[in-house]
Formats: sequence, C-alpha cells, structure tokens
Amino acid sequence: MPAELLFALLRDPASTGAVLPSSRALANAMAHAAVGADAVIELGAGTGPVTEALLRHMPGVPLIAVELQAPLARRLRTRFPSVEVREASAKQVVDGLIHRPGRLVLVSSLPFRSLPKEVGAETVNSICRFLAHSRERKLVQFTYQPRAPFVAPRGLRWHRRAVVWRNTPPAGIWELQAEG
Ligand SMILES: C[S@@+](CC[C@H](N)C(=O)[O-])C[C@H]1O[C@@H](n2cnc3c(N)ncnc32)[C@H](O)[C@@H]1O
Repeated sequence: MPAELLFALLRDPASTGAVLPSSRALANAMAHAAVGADAVIELGAGTGPVTEALLRHMPGVPLIAVELQAPLARRLRTRFPSVEVREASAKQVVDGLIHRPGRLVLVSSLPFRSLPKEVGAETVNSICRFLAHSRERKLVQFTYQPRAPFVAPRGLRWHRRAVVWRNTPPAGIWELQAEG
C-alpha cells in the first residue's frame, strides 16, 4: 500500500474506504467510460491513478479533481499541475456545477458503502439532482459489490458497463444517467 493511502486510511478510514489504490486496469476502464465528455469532475481522486488515466485518455478536456483530505489534495496539485484540484466535499463541488452547460461526466471513487451515513446520503442526493438536470450527464462509479453502488431514485437508471478482473478485488463499473 502506498504511504499516502495508508496515512489517509489511518486519518479517516470511513471516507478513504480503499486499502489498495485503484489498479491501472480499473483506472483505464473508468477513464474510457468518460470519453466524449466536454468536462470531467473526478470525485474522491485520492492518490491519483484515475486522474492520471483521465489525462491520458482525454488530453485537453477540462478536469476538476475533488479530494476532501488536504494532504492528498496537495499531492494531486503537485503531481498534476494542469488539473484544477478542489480540496472540498463532492457535494459542495457538484452543487456548484449544477447549471454548467455541456456533456459533464462525474467519475467517482467515493466509497459510498463506508461513508458516514449522513455524508453518503447528502452526496447521493446532490449527485442525483445534478444528473436529473440533463440526460447529457452521467456518473461513472466503481464498486466491489455485485450490485449497483446505491439505490437510484425514480427517473435515473443504473447500467453495469464492465467488470475489471485485473483489480484487487475485481470491480464493477457502473453508469448512472437520467432515463430517456
Ligand atoms: C477509495 S479512496 C481513493 C481512490 C483513488 N482512486 C485511489 O486509488 O487513490 C476514496 C477517496 O475519496 C475521498 N473522499 C471521501 N469522501 C469524500 C467526499 N465527501 N468528498 C470528496 N472526497 C471524498 C477520500 O479522502 C479518498 O481519498
């Protein structure tokens, strides 16, 4: 385990969720799902494997990386100077972008199953409000569970896009979007 993730886990186990960083295969599959977006908002960027894959797959596309933990946000800024890193909660950033036009894709590594209940609920509500605004938007989320990452409200639908076996543990990649 990289030292940064270990320290993050010790500081805040519920919000960090992962014991291992996302594999290259998982990061690539997440980034691949975002191709075609006008802008990407990465939620819970952590140590940056998905950020790195997004930059590789989508050069020139505006990318906002959101990370709650200050040491991880600082490291992301140093490692990716071209990325707009916001040290903030996912809810704060997503709420602030609700009226932004274009095909916006949220790419999330947020650990919904381990987040404190209230934080998880307000984050899910914020993301669902954001997606309901336009069918051009979607959420890309991975999960280690065999089911969708959280229950979708009426009007939004989950679709399992892929399973990445070359990750420990294997992960499902799911997309959430407004119904047509
Ligand atoms: C599974 S970990 C990081 C995954 C990342 N792909 C990696 O390999 O480093 C999830 C990250 O989400 C961040 N996080 C948790 N809750 C958050 C929130 N409400 N807003 C923004 N970031 C959050 C944690 O600090 C943690 O870095």
